[in-house]
Amino acid sequence: MNINILKNLSYGVYVVSTPNGEKSTGCIANSLMQITHDTIAVSINHKNYTNECIKKYKRFAISILGVETDDNVIPVFGFQSGHEVDKFQGVKTITVDGIEVIENSVGYIICELVNMMETETHTVFLGKITNGEILHEQIPMTYAYYHAVKNGKSPENAPTYIEEKATGDLAYKCRICGYIYEGDITKEPDTYVCPICKKGKEFFDRV
Ligand SMILES: Cc1cc2nc3c(=O)[nH]c(=O)nc-3n(C[C@H](O)[C@H](O)[C@H](O)COP(=O)(O)O)c2cc1C
Repeated sequence: MNINILKNLSYGVYVVSTPNGEKSTGCIANSLMQITHDTIAVSINHKNYTNECIKKYKRFAISILGVETDDNVIPVFGFQSGHEVDKFQGVKTITVDGIEVIENSVGYIICELVNMMETETHTVFLGKITNGEILHEQIPMTYAYYHAVKNGKSPENAPTYIEEKATGDLAYKCRICGYIYEGDITKEPDTYVCPICKKGKEFFDRV
């Protein structure tokens, strides 16, 4: 089997948000698609806090990220967990039908949970669309654009995660996003941050 064939599937990049008590929480997902005229499916890892909250509150929102969406949205929602942080603090949002969505995005879709299916690692949630709006006329970000132009990575919880290997003799790997730094990271200034998840060099291990 040639695993590289899977790299030819096409996706967008989204924030899937849910209620979380008085607030909202959410995570980045690329594994999302429209199933029928009013139904969306999205696959969320069992370990993600977002998974727990969708099951509890039975509703979720999708923010469609664009190429002009703020660069901090993917690091905040894709590389840290709502188990530990309030992700919506510091991100410009609007609240629609009780769920926060990303303001600087192409727009949002609101769904009510109608069904779900378990796999070994992920839950596939089926949502019936109850609301939606365009917010900004910008080009939707594709997963391919995220990788090619933003040099993006996906963490282990993402269904499309593929582990990267170092090519040189001296290299360090970011524990958060898997980014490989080729060379001696100790020579970088203390202000150095990972270009993908924005964590400091103390998050890198020698590989
Ligand atoms: C580009 C990208 C795509 C991702 N796609 C998915 C996905 O489709 N499903 C998923 O469960 N996690 C996906 N993730 C990983 C989650 O966003 C990540 O594990 C997040 O920290 C989970 O946060 P939570 O625990 O607050 O829910 C993706 C991350 C990135 C950066």
